[in-house]
Amino acid sequence: MSRPPWSIQTRLMAGLSLSTALLMGLIGWYWVQRSERALNLALDQRQERMAQMVARGFAEPVWNLDLSSLSDLLDAVMADPEVQSIELEAPGLDRVSFSRRRATPAAQTQTREVALLYRAGTGDGHELGRARLTYTRALVNQSLADTRELVISLLAMALLATLCSSYWLLRRLVERPVLRLSRLAGRVADGELGAQIEVEREDELGQLTRQLNAMSLRLKASAQELRDSEARNRSELEQLVAERTAELSQAMQRAEAASQAKSRFLAAMSHEFRTPLNAILGFAQLLQLDPRLEAQQQSRVRLIRDSGDHLLALITDLLDVASIEAGKLSLFPTQLDLRALLDMACDSVRLRATEKGLRFEQQFAPDLPSQVRADGQRLRQVLLNLLSNAIKFTDMGQVTLAVERIHEEPGLALLRFAVQDTGIGIAAEQLDRIFQPFEQVAEGRRRQDGTGLGLAISQQLVRLMGSEIEVRTQPGQGSRFTFTLSLPTPASG
Ligand SMILES: Nc1ncnc2c1ncn2[C@@H]1O[C@H](COP(=O)(O)OP(=O)(O)OP(=O)(O)O)[C@@H](O)[C@H]1O
Ligand SMILES: [Mg+2]
Repeated sequence: MSRPPWSIQTRLMAGLSLSTALLMGLIGWYWVQRSERALNLALDQRQERMAQMVARGFAEPVWNLDLSSLSDLLDAVMADPEVQSIELEAPGLDRVSFSRRRATPAAQTQTREVALLYRAGTGDGHELGRARLTYTRALVNQSLADTRELVISLLAMALLATLCSSYWLLRRLVERPVLRLSRLAGRVADGELGAQIEVEREDELGQLTRQLNAMSLRLKASAQELRDSEARNRSELEQLVAERTAELSQAMQRAEAASQAKSRFLAAMSHEFRTPLNAILGFAQLLQLDPRLEAQQQSRVRLIRDSGDHLLALITDLLDVASIEAGKLSLFPTQLDLRALLDMACDSVRLRATEKGLRFEQQFAPDLPSQVRADGQRLRQVLLNLLSNAIKFTDMGQVTLAVERIHEEPGLALLRFAVQDTGIGIAAEQLDRIFQPFEQVAEGRRRQDGTGLGLAISQQLVRLMGSEIEVRTQPGQGSRFTFTLSLPTPASG
């Protein structure tokens, strides 16, 4: 583990060293000051003693002009290493002969003049001359320098001792245990729940170690509990899912069986209905051709035929709805003539439009492919549904079938089919309902004209073809139903 630049150890050692240095500096400074004062005092005292000795010892020989004693006394004074020079001044004495001076000059000196007094009996003495004593401070300075050196060495040693001992103590008491604790925390953080380390000491860090060990054990126990409860929940959930899946599959099987039964019933019934209905329609057609019938009888037969036609269309629609709901309705695409299909759809409804006094328009883009691959019967069924709705719900104006090619790609034609009218339109809130089976939103007579299955079947058929019928409408203004189909075109197309 890398140590941070300003670790606790570094900071503690710096603090300890700084305070030790300050304390030792203060003590050293006081010690040096004291020594200097003591040395200066001792020097003064020695100078004083020497001055008294000179004053007393030299007066007698000067008075007697005892030159050899004077010379001995001068030598004796110079024996003191602190005396730099001595000069005697007295009448009758040669100044040069009665002075002594050391060969090496001194840097710092102090000079004292002493009066040589001759006392005969009691009373004030008579001044015979003067002695000038020059002292050197070299010895005192040397002694002071030695003291300073000693203090500095002691300071350095104390600092070194403080540094070494604090380093050793901190390493032993703080850094090593903290590193052990941090390694333990790291192991727990890495997922080794329950990891433990030995408690080595009974101090605060020992307590912390014990608590961390306990925490690690608690974490391990909690994780185990969590795993157990998760496993319990999972098995309960799996059991629940299995039960629900079994229930669901039973329900689905029941629903499928019911739906198949419904489809079978509808298919059988529509067949059963259609056979007699076709007979009724056939005979009604034959009857219509009979010239012997009177006009009133003719109109009754037409009513029978119209009702039969209506019933047949209804049965066909119901069968389609049943097949779509059972997922049994499939498309059978074949290659077909698109223009012929569109013309046939228009021809089927044109007469009805003209009878209602509506303009019927067909707008086919010139670039439409002549041949496409599609389920012609179902495409025609969708177009007829939309066109008959447009005519049924329009009282004046026009109905248009427009087909255009909106994207060109080799082998594929993207065609948009649009049926537009100027009829009654549909309110916005009813738009959601019109594609539901048996939903009719128009009022009155128009309701009786249908069953509300046309758009539901058409939407499902267009979805099977991979698209969706969209509607734009405004009440009182008209409606526009559109869908786009992507139809393959033969290479020659
Ligand atoms: N062009 C349109 N203009 C106005 N309303 C329309 C138009 N086309 C459909 N609708 C509304 O949507 C309803 C559902 O239409 P859908 O074709 O499904 O039923 P239907 O025409 O009433 O009966 P069916 O088509 O089964 O003979 C209609 O009853 C009518 O209210
Ligand atoms: Mg309809």
